[in-house]
Amino acid sequence: MFDPVEAVKELVRFPSISTDSSSEEGMEGVRQSLGTLLAGLGFEVEMVETPLHPVLFATRGGDPDWPHVIIYGHYDVQPADPLELWCSPPFEPEVRDGYLFGRGTADNKGSLMVHIAAVGRLLEKNPDAPIRITFLIEGEEEIGSPSFEGFLERYKDRLEGDFVLLSDTQSPSPEEVTITTGLRGIVCLDVEITGPKMDLHSGVHGGVVMNPIQALCGLCHSLFTPDGRINLPGFYDDVLPVFDWERDELERLGLAEEEYADFLGVDKFHSPEDSSPFAALRFHPSLEFNGIGGGYQGEGSKTVIPSKAFVKISCRLVPDQNPLKIQEILTEALKERCPTEVSLKIIPGHCGAPYLVVPPGKPNTPADQSPVLARAFSAADHAIMNVFGSSPYYLREGGSIPIIADLKRMAGLDSLMLGMCTQESNLHAPNENLHLGMFHKGISVSEKILSAIAGL
Ligand code: BES
Ligand code: MN
Repeated sequence: MFDPVEAVKELVRFPSISTDSSSEEGMEGVRQSLGTLLAGLGFEVEMVETPLHPVLFATRGGDPDWPHVIIYGHYDVQPADPLELWCSPPFEPEVRDGYLFGRGTADNKGSLMVHIAAVGRLLEKNPDAPIRITFLIEGEEEIGSPSFEGFLERYKDRLEGDFVLLSDTQSPSPEEVTITTGLRGIVCLDVEITGPKMDLHSGVHGGVVMNPIQALCGLCHSLFTPDGRINLPGFYDDVLPVFDWERDELERLGLAEEEYADFLGVDKFHSPEDSSPFAALRFHPSLEFNGIGGGYQGEGSKTVIPSKAFVKISCRLVPDQNPLKIQEILTEALKERCPTEVSLKIIPGHCGAPYLVVPPGKPNTPADQSPVLARAFSAADHAIMNVFGSSPYYLREGGSIPIIADLKRMAGLDSLMLGMCTQESNLHAPNENLHLGMFHKGISVSEKILSAIAGL
């Protein structure tokens, strides 16, 4: 069997930044490297062209009656900047104190390798294992998977399977695992406000026109009520109440608010309705300003009325909020509230639906839940107990993986998500890292799950 840590390092050496058009070579390199690895394990590998980055689709066929597991991952990564904050170069993976550092070590190259290595071990021990496995590895996750729906439309017949297995979420610590039961959805949009047709001298023309920055700040301010709720008509209408077992799980997790505040570097939290920050990020929708600009940004002062101002907004959604409906509500409110002295342009960005899967044995587990999925959950529970020494937590996470809801809606597939990194893994941030102890344990867990599904 190949050395899984070396295999992650090889993948990390390719800068595969999906948002950066100069990363083509890195994208191609990492795809080829993954393709070679999977072909070496006996998979039939296809690079499926899409309008943007190809999807790596690799299958181990067999008897159509065998259980069929789809393993999802993404080979693209976030940009590495700010580079000066890295202790070692982001695309030169380095092991320090039991962690592997580099962009994509956790999100998602290392976490994906957990399952590739597990498959490698399973097939090494049982070359004839009665299980069908399909790897579905995309290159656009970090930019909202724009090609994925089109891909699914074409490939859904080949994705008739039992469930999706993946690691692209977080756990509370390297010693404790979360089985992620839900993800937030997402809606992004850009707002641009134009006032005068050019920048103006703020003395010569000051007090005559509506300043686009003022209009923009007013609009942003209007999106919240004084108590921190999102001030959009109907925004909360479709929010599903949280189940009791979810609140119990969060209680069992018993996170300390002070520690989290320390980690974030804030003295006080700001969550609506006094909910705990841990409940807020999992169970409540949110609206954030991701970037704002306009006017003079340089040193000292410049007496100018800018012509334009912009803000980037995203909302995180919870079940059963509909991203298109929320996008519409937000767009209409912005149009209605924008002062008439300026003009408003709204550029819609990516959308993704929220996702929720109820594990077997809960009061609200769907009666028609796939028996193979139920077996996978129970195998995961046992394997985690056995390998990590404690039962997993069944919790939603705050992040988004939009294609998980697409796979449910278009191919009927639910997902078993094992968090193989933690808050300290610095996803999307400098010094991203993979805890190697957790990585090795994760491989054993995944191997046990796959063996159980294969009936071995
Ligand atoms: N792996 C993350 C999502 C994640 C992180 C889920 C932690 C749960 C816990 C993923 O790669 C990611 O960052 N997704 C983006 C999606 C967006 C670009 C549409 C996100 O959540 O911002
Ligand atoms: Mn990811």
